[in-house]
Amino acid sequence: MIKQAIPTKNKQVIDWVNEVAALTEPDYVYWCDGSEEENMAICAKLERAGTFIKLNPKKRPNSYLARSNPKDVARVESRTFICSQKQIDAGPTNNWAPPKKMKATLKKLMKGCMHGRAMYVIPFSMGPLGSKIAQIGIEITDSPYVVANMRIMTRMGKAVWKVLGNGNFVKCLHSVGAPLKKGEKDVPWPCNPENTYITHFPETREIISFGSGYGGNALLGKKCLALRIASTMAHEDGWLAEHMLIVGLENKKQKLKAYVAAAFPSACGKTNMAMLIPPKEMKDWKVSTVGDDIAWIKPGQDGRLYAINPEAGFFGVAPGTSVKTNKNAMESCRRNTIFTNVALTDDGDVWWEGMTDKAPEHLIDWQGHDWTPRSSTPAAHPNSRFTAPAAQCPTIDKNWENPAGVPISAFVFGGRLASNTPLVYQAFDWTHGVFLASTMGSEKTAAAEGKTGEIRRDPFAMLPFCGYNMGDYWTHWLKVGARLREKPLIFRVNWFRKDDQGKFMWPGFGDNMRVLEWIVRRTAGQVNAIQTALGMSPRYEDLTWTGLKMTQQQFQALMDVDAQKALEDVGAQSESFEPLRQEDKIPIEFEAELVLLAERLKRSMA
Ligand code: GTP
Ligand code: SPV
Ligand code: MN
Repeated sequence: MIKQAIPTKNKQVIDWVNEVAALTEPDYVYWCDGSEEENMAICAKLERAGTFIKLNPKKRPNSYLARSNPKDVARVESRTFICSQKQIDAGPTNNWAPPKKMKATLKKLMKGCMHGRAMYVIPFSMGPLGSKIAQIGIEITDSPYVVANMRIMTRMGKAVWKVLGNGNFVKCLHSVGAPLKKGEKDVPWPCNPENTYITHFPETREIISFGSGYGGNALLGKKCLALRIASTMAHEDGWLAEHMLIVGLENKKQKLKAYVAAAFPSACGKTNMAMLIPPKEMKDWKVSTVGDDIAWIKPGQDGRLYAINPEAGFFGVAPGTSVKTNKNAMESCRRNTIFTNVALTDDGDVWWEGMTDKAPEHLIDWQGHDWTPRSSTPAAHPNSRFTAPAAQCPTIDKNWENPAGVPISAFVFGGRLASNTPLVYQAFDWTHGVFLASTMGSEKTAAAEGKTGEIRRDPFAMLPFCGYNMGDYWTHWLKVGARLREKPLIFRVNWFRKDDQGKFMWPGFGDNMRVLEWIVRRTAGQVNAIQTALGMSPRYEDLTWTGLKMTQQQFQALMDVDAQKALEDVGAQSESFEPLRQEDKIPIEFEAELVLLAERLKRSMA
């Protein structure tokens, strides 16, 4: 046990820490300072516990592999709750429980839940430390794995205390929910999947997470604070907290420069687009990375929207990431990285499906078993991840930590849809764009529990992350737009269309630059578009094709819409609004958009 002076005089913090310690009964309380020495000690402790395996320092300097319990591998939406006072404020898209009742349930579960463990107090800032727009959180956790990850994902450490002073903060309480009896040996990945709860109390700005040690369930600054709690703050204060990447796109020759924010559901390509490398025929384009997962967006004095990335690291999907698909992500995780649930190579490095064309002859898979290319299960879990410092990204934007943010010229919304959704089109106006984002569909991925591949509506890619009523959120978007002097243009994209053989029809990755170029040129008023039933679309000749074999017919197939099917989807969209409609939460503008869309489609068939 370490004797420490308490590093803050903030009474709220001290009282809360004492209260939690009295309830959870840890062996001792440790106040994290964020130092290098502390991190070394935490990593050494994780190694001794078998949670961390040190990777070969020649191959992956200062990096570790962790393997989770196979029952704790992704976010658990079925166990995620928004506990607002009134159910209607959580809305029909969120699980809800009355705050008093949920707190009573949690209190019971948490009595003595840290027996045999240390209780860590982690001060952190979402957003540049000390900036006006940053939010301070304090996470209490019994997981040293969480401490090591939070140090990468947030600005964490003792400097936070000075900035906090006697001010307010978001209370983030986390326990893996696995107390140890006296003398009981710990397991490498303690968790409690049978009793997992990820709970949010928006009115009191509190988060309590129990039972899971993985990703967004446990690194509470990310989805819980920066999206679910922040979205309710943003709703109150007139800004936006979004599941979006932020990317800079510049072409000096064409005198074009724009920042774009794009929402894609989990594991649908945000990290890739944030770090995109244009095809060599388009090397006049310079791409810079501001953020890969979360954007806080605020109206500026000049009537434009400005975005910051509140995070300091990437918690990126490993499978599918390679030198070919995302070289910048591969560079970002070259060193100082924590890998979770990927495979281990015989020379102490990591591997996952898609990293190389040919799999190594022998690996240890994510569950610690021998694996060969003949094995019938994947070597890395489909939701395996790397936790890497954003500053290590070769394309990190020079303004990525600028508290003023970067001006947003366009919003892009994209799902993972195999059919009937064009490669790209532009909304007619802000209202139409907000409507388009609200009806977005996408196939479910391994980033959340449950069956993958099923199509579900994921409005704004925020279905699992909106901390308040989804209908109020849409109305908020309409209002924020109405107040702007210069509204970003809004686009829909789909990189994932498949042919009859089930093959992707669009090369994706770096070639997405061809679509982004059209988008940026649209924001600068440099290129025309044609009006279709869905929106404004590019013609074949409006996109750069050098270096890619794509005939006019192939492009048409990517843009093609079966109007009859689209019309049926309008019916399905309207039906999907029904639960919100019954609460009188569907913006009247959306009802009009449904009618207009149906009319345009009918006319296109006549
Ligand atoms: P979260 O971190 O879960 O929010 O996800 P994300 O949106 O950042 O996902 P990411 O960019 O890591 O992509 C997940 C998967 O999509 C990876 O397996 C990528 O290889 C794949 N992917 C990304 N871009 C493309 C693309 O343009 N085309 C295709 N076909 N796949 C892509
Ligand atoms: C997502 O699922 O959208 C993620 C990963 O970004 S996690 O932080 O685990 O939620
Ligand atoms: Mn995400």
